[in-house]
Parts: sequence; structure tokens; C-alpha cells
Amino acid sequence: MSEKRTADEAGKNLFYDPSERRIRSFVTRAGRLSPAQARALDTLGPQFCLPYEKAPLDFDAAFGRTAPTILEIGYGMGGTTAAIAAAMPDSNFLGVEVHTPGVGSLLKLIGEQELRNLRLIQHDAVEVVNHMIAPRSLAGVHVFFPDPWHKARHNKRRLIQPAFVALLASRLAPGGYLHCATDWEDYATQMLDVLGADPSLENTAAGYAPRPSYRPVTKFENRGLKLGHGVWDLVFRLRADA
Ligand SMILES: C[S@@+](CC[C@H](N)C(=O)[O-])C[C@H]1O[C@@H](n2cnc3c(N)ncnc32)[C@H](O)[C@@H]1O
Repeated sequence: MSEKRTADEAGKNLFYDPSERRIRSFVTRAGRLSPAQARALDTLGPQFCLPYEKAPLDFDAAFGRTAPTILEIGYGMGGTTAAIAAAMPDSNFLGVEVHTPGVGSLLKLIGEQELRNLRLIQHDAVEVVNHMIAPRSLAGVHVFFPDPWHKARHNKRRLIQPAFVALLASRLAPGGYLHCATDWEDYATQMLDVLGADPSLENTAAGYAPRPSYRPVTKFENRGLKLGHGVWDLVFRLRADA
């Protein structure tokens, strides 16, 4: 496999439906794939990547078992995802990410750690949740360090907005949770406002939550914490009467 292979070439399966016009939370970046990521895409992609379809995904068929399923949106290079999936073998993890080197990176970790409880979809998570996730089907949703889109004119691209949170809440099974984390204070405030205003959700903490032990601290986060930067976790649960 040539080292010059680009993410665009490997990302042929990225499929955007022009009929779903809206402001997206990401821009498509061409990124260089490492040879190991390209290999992982070729060898493990067919087994662990699921195609985007406008039809509800059958979790039992996709994972080959019945287990609580947790959705992670925007897993980046997948280090946190792999660590959580390894620590929680009794749960299924569905990772959705658009960036091809990230998909290759997580597939590589799946291979190295022999993880069997992860499936990946390379597509816009908003469309995936809309079309592929059945109502009341998820045990949890993880949104860790979503792009902050910190310029005021870009704020509208942020993932955590009322309409998307309402959609996510509708996909949570009874007792299901939504866990967001950010290191951008202004986005943390927005998250607290938006999650707090959703009528189907209730906060598990008084304001921000302590970091749940299943979310490992990343190298990047550790560096920030040492420099005195903050990290805010928010853990909300589906209301019993929702
Ligand atoms: C700032 S990175 C954080 C990555 C990772 N969660 C972490 O903590 O290191 C945000 C990621 O979300 C992805 N992303 C943004 N919007 C998305 C969407 N609508 N669907 C899928 N992935 C998305 C981006 O490609 C990027 O990899």
C-alpha cells in the first residue's frame, strides 16, 4: 500500500445525501493515512465497518449478540473508544466518525487489542442517528470533546444544539444516558443550558458531573489540566416519565 494514499481515496464510502441540506458540524479534511491505518481499513474495515443506510440498524445482527449498545459520536483517533470498549466487554459500542484516518486508527486498535464489541460507521452522525438508530434503543451516548467551533459566526456548527439533543434523547432506552465532555468553557455552558432545557432529560449531577471512571483522561487533556485548563463532563439521563 502506497504511503501517498490519501484519506480522500480511502474515504470513497463517505456518502452525503444532498437532500439533507443543513449546516454540518464538520468539514471534510483530506488527511494522510499512515500505512498501518490503510492496512487496517483494507483488512478490518469489511468486518467492523457498517455501511450507512437509511434504515434502522439491527444491533443484534450487527454485533452478533444482544447487549446494551452505546453510541459514540466523533471518536477522533479512537484511543478513548478502544479503552472503554476493552474495559466494558459486555456492552456494544457503535462509533460514528467522518475522518478516514480516524477510522483507520480505531480499526488498527481493534486489531491490536482483539476487540470484538465495536462497530464503526463512517458518516455524519446526525444522519446516522436520524435514520439508523431506532427510538428507545441506546443504553448511552458519548460525545467527547466535540469540535468547539469557537468563533461566534461558527457556533451554529456545534453538535450540541436543542434539535439534535432532542433527537438523541428520543433514541435513549429507559435509563439511558447522554455523556458529553468539553475543554471549551463557553461550549460547556451551552451544553449545560441545552441539556438542562430538554424536557426528556434530567441531570445526574448538580451542574457539571465528576468525570465518570470509564472515561480515561487523554494525553491532550492531561497536558491541558496541568496548564490549568478546565474540562467539563455532563451526564444526563432519560427521565423515567419521558
Ligand atoms: C475535536 S475531535 C475530538 C475527537 C475525540 N472525541 C477526542 O476526544 O479526542 C471531534 C471529532 O468529531 C468528528 N465529527 C464532527 N462532527 C461529526 C459528525 N457530524 N459526525 C461524525 N463525526 C463528527 C470530527 O471528524 C472529529 O474527529
